[in-house]
Amino acid sequence: MPDEPGGAGVPARRVLVDPEGPLLVEGPVEVVLEDGSTVRSDRVMVAVCACGRSARYPWCDTSHRRPARTRDGARTRDG
Ligand code: FES
Repeated sequence: MPDEPGGAGVPARRVLVDPEGPLLVEGPVEVVLEDGSTVRSDRVMVAVCACGRSARYPWCDTSHRRPARTRDGARTRDG
């Protein structure tokens, strides 16, 4: 990333945005959670949950594919 520490010689980390799914980040990845703790994935490509519905948050567990439920039990497409 030319504008970040490390200079132009450091390859940029690539993030793929799926508008209906996770952020796909070239790993390894460390994510700092709201409580300040850090979790790490050493996968080559890491799916980071962007919908907030994953039971394995911050990692995507494909819950974004399932219809969400409202308080009255009705299903919605967007979670
Ligand atoms: S983006 Fe897949 S579970 Fe949230």
